[in-house]
Amino acid sequence: MKVLLVGNGGREHALARALVRTSNADHPVELVVQAGNPGLEPLGRSLVFNPLDPADVVRRAVAEKVDLVVVGPEAPLVAGVADAVIEVGIPCFGPTQAAAELEASKSFAKQIMNEAGVKTARSFTCRTMDEVDAALDDLGAPHVVKDDALAAGKGVIVTEDRQAAREHAEGCLSRPDGAVVIEDYLEGPEVSLFCLADGTTAIPLVPAQDFKRVGDGNEGPNTGGMGAYTPLPWLREDAVDEIVETVAKPTITAMKARGTEFRGLLYCGLAMTSKGIRVVEFNVRFGDPETQVVLERLDSPLSELLYAAATGNLADAPAPVWSTDAAVTVVLASGGYPGPTDTGHIIAGIEDAEALEGVHVIHAGTSEEITSDPADVAAGCCGFEPDSAIVNTGGRVLDVTARAATVEEARVLAYEGVAKIHFEGEHHRSDIATWPADLNTAGA
Ligand code: GLY
Repeated sequence: MKVLLVGNGGREHALARALVRTSNADHPVELVVQAGNPGLEPLGRSLVFNPLDPADVVRRAVAEKVDLVVVGPEAPLVAGVADAVIEVGIPCFGPTQAAAELEASKSFAKQIMNEAGVKTARSFTCRTMDEVDAALDDLGAPHVVKDDALAAGKGVIVTEDRQAAREHAEGCLSRPDGAVVIEDYLEGPEVSLFCLADGTTAIPLVPAQDFKRVGDGNEGPNTGGMGAYTPLPWLREDAVDEIVETVAKPTITAMKARGTEFRGLLYCGLAMTSKGIRVVEFNVRFGDPETQVVLERLDSPLSELLYAAATGNLADAPAPVWSTDAAVTVVLASGGYPGPTDTGHIIAGIEDAEALEGVHVIHAGTSEEITSDPADVAAGCCGFEPDSAIVNTGGRVLDVTARAATVEEARVLAYEGVAKIHFEGEHHRSDIATWPADLNTAGA
């Protein structure tokens, strides 16, 4: 199967790695990838294109005669890439623009949850500061204020400080058509459960946990995610079935009933509260960095599953086969992240980390730069190979990922890998894949 993968961050590197690693003689995979990620590029033929331009993506897909387009990030989906690809008759893994509203608008997601009877936090959608004040009074602290629109991981604030909550809301409302969703704080450990969907059927992948705050002990501001692990030894065994039955299936049924069938990845972000399972958020694509660990445990062809979802045939697809191994990923971030980041520094030690058995390094925000003297490069002729180095270019830079028999072994191995890698300003959490001893008493 020839696959065009749209997007070039850490999630897409992990998707490409899993597509290639799980391919076999019955399910061979040839990848065409988006240029710009030095970890992803060697896994396929790389092309320069604009992922946010549906016509450009279609041009590439048609010219390459691909069998399947897989869209990694949310922004191309919200821009209508899946609609355009489907329009020319190529199956696309990723929802249409209308179905991507589940992530693009928090208030739309709440509306669907209400229609579908899916349990979530009580909330108000506010368009004025008077409505914001009324909602903050009604719900009390901690205040949870979510930008209604996509905000690249920066849309949510959880704070005891009413003034900070108001300021965040004011910033969101200041944009044309700005709105915020203010909701009850959900107390309890969070779980990310990804479900493949083909419009009718939902197939769960294995659950993972993400560490969203920048600092150890869940201190500091929210980030896109600083690390993840799977399995979750503290999660009760029937939780996945319950999430599929009470969250994923009703949501997919409600979307179909509206005429906006959902095909792709329904990311259920959940809180295991003392009152039961509650939805924190929906996303319409694989999570980052949870994908890095979830797909590391997949031992059957990923291409077969994604194609079945894209073509409405999940009910007939073989169930995914999962390793009993654990996987842990630790994100190495640039100085300043999640604020303005300090980039352009040479990264040392990636090969040393990858030399550890069971460890691989996913590139999330890096590029390869020529380090030879420009005069030498200009004068160089046949056979001259300029020197190059990997430098940090984004907030989240590398995801050091380890697979081992237990979470504890994978965690130790991942941190051995982390210790090998150095760049100026680098920071990471040191408590990924640890959890309080009493956590298994939490939940429903
Ligand atoms: N790790 C959170 C997300 O992908 O949105």
